[in-house]
Amino acid sequence: MRINNKNFRTIWFENNIVKIIDQTKLPHQFAIKELKTVQDTVNAIKNMEVRGAPLIGATAAYGLVLSILEKNDLNYLKKSSEDLISSRPTAINLKWAVDRMIKKISGINDKDIFKKALDEAKLIVEEDVNFCKKIGSNGLKIIENISNKKKDTVNILTHCNAGWLATIDWGTATSPIYHAHKKGIKLHVWVDETRPRNQGANLTSYELNEEGIPNTVITDNAGGILMQRGKVDMCIVGTDRTLSNGDVCNKIGTYLKALAAKDNNIPFYVALPSSTIDWKIKNHKQIPIEERNSEELSYVEGMDEKNNLRKVRIYPLKSKSLNLAFDVTPAKYVSGLITEKGICEASNEGLSKLFK
Ligand code: MRU
Repeated sequence: MRINNKNFRTIWFENNIVKIIDQTKLPHQFAIKELKTVQDTVNAIKNMEVRGAPLIGATAAYGLVLSILEKNDLNYLKKSSEDLISSRPTAINLKWAVDRMIKKISGINDKDIFKKALDEAKLIVEEDVNFCKKIGSNGLKIIENISNKKKDTVNILTHCNAGWLATIDWGTATSPIYHAHKKGIKLHVWVDETRPRNQGANLTSYELNEEGIPNTVITDNAGGILMQRGKVDMCIVGTDRTLSNGDVCNKIGTYLKALAAKDNNIPFYVALPSSTIDWKIKNHKQIPIEERNSEELSYVEGMDEKNNLRKVRIYPLKSKSLNLAFDVTPAKYVSGLITEKGICEASNEGLSKLFK
């Protein structure tokens, strides 16, 4: 998608270096960062220079390519895999990508292993682009229906950033929005700020602006009143892990939006590529919920009036805080799952029909 009218992807491999857009600097600064070692990729994931479930999966895949370049050694590869998988615990795409890479390269001789690994990482990337594009054309139908009935601007609420910045291109939740916009459907997006890291305000609003899509940033708690007053036609969010029963784990606050949507009869859709489905875990209480540094809550970062980036503390020093990064929306609150294979009910039956 576009930044300053130039097309970018979020990650690419060039001259044996992984290049990323450093998302900790957005929207104030557009900086490309080079990752040269597997540890660089682990750090980029941990520090959220790259984030979003599909993108951290792709970064982990390239991380293993760098690991092979550094030291073509099985023990090192094993350690690299473990470090990558544990760098962020909730998004299943990370383990999915590492397992897929290891499966592809196990038993391959030393001479061919680098090429095999690089080819597979590139395939993971291309597949994600393709799947996100399909999510867009499938989800477009929902927006089109609302637009045809309403004959006015369709107001869509989204949470966090499940945009192209969270994937390689197109995004998941944003892909139907981009497809609808390209088709000329009149849209407006309510962007949840998404405390504490403000992925909505910093990233979703930024990428929608770059694509010329009207959007308004709101506080995380504003969705309820907007829904009650008829200002939201539908919600679309992404997910970090979707269970086979249709329960959806996504950025903290998603669950409360789904409850409010249910109470107001507003469709609540979740968009995902199949790499985000966890077929193993049966009970959402087993999903590891990432707990991040409490300083993400007690400090805020932004530009001051002289355009200098500053970080300031907003809580009393003595106050404790808890920073849970994800929550779970039970399947019963999800109107449907928008996938690369079509739209299905958020249930075992729905997912099985599409994927098994
Ligand atoms: O903590 P983040 O920014 O990695 O969280 C991202 C999300 O919660 C997204 O909604 C999810 O990864 C889906 S991305 C297409």
